[in-house]
Amino acid sequence: MFRIALISMFLTSAALATTTALFTDRTNDPLCTQTRPDVEGPYWIPDSPQRSNLRDPGDAPMLDLYFSVVDQDCGPIPNAWIDIWHADADGDYDKKGWGYRGHHFADGAGYSILETVIPGLYPGRTSHIHVKVQGDSPSIFTTQLYFPDVPENDDDFFYHPDLEVSVIEVDADGNMIAEFHFVVEDRHGCPDINGDNYVNVSDLLTIIDQWGLANAPADVNDDDIVDVSDLLMVVGNWGECE
Ligand SMILES: [Fe+2]
Repeated sequence: MFRIALISMFLTSAALATTTALFTDRTNDPLCTQTRPDVEGPYWIPDSPQRSNLRDPGDAPMLDLYFSVVDQDCGPIPNAWIDIWHADADGDYDKKGWGYRGHHFADGAGYSILETVIPGLYPGRTSHIHVKVQGDSPSIFTTQLYFPDVPENDDDFFYHPDLEVSVIEVDADGNMIAEFHFVVEDRHGCPDINGDNYVNVSDLLTIIDQWGLANAPADVNDDDIVDVSDLLMVVGNWGECE
């Protein structure tokens, strides 16, 4: 069963002002199957600026999108990297600058909030948001997010209902609060704790440094304690990550 967690926070949007956000806790959810991937498309630019608020003053309709990132065991992925790019409200991409582009990191429980606008339509596509997500695995997951009840969804080759955001609230001006839960590849295949694409002595030293801690990055097998089982995973996967 889902458990609803109440997380208090302030949103910068006046129209969407609320101090309480609803996140659905996917821990123990038996349905943590990997999120459906979708094509990258032609407009991704690497090395976007770090920011979770992509809005400019006066942008409308506003979208506040609550993310959670979990692995296929439904365990939260702390500090997951989330890279976003999408068209503006008129359906145009910024191909020269960083308009509506940015990356941010989930918090220690795998949650984050994106503040942006609802993307407009452009020829051949329904409204969508491009996303890349990376947890502890070296692989980067790429997909697109869509919105329910958009007529153009039915004519978009890439649209899939599994990738719709869940709408929490829409106000009279069309400003929306919604959420999406990413389930991405877990870290088990490569216990590269420090993310340098090698399992080596630096990872071993991190395990020793975090020995006995619960929910620490060095808990590579997610058994809630850094111990000899994590040490053995590192030793057993020594070398370059695939
Ligand atoms: Fe696109």
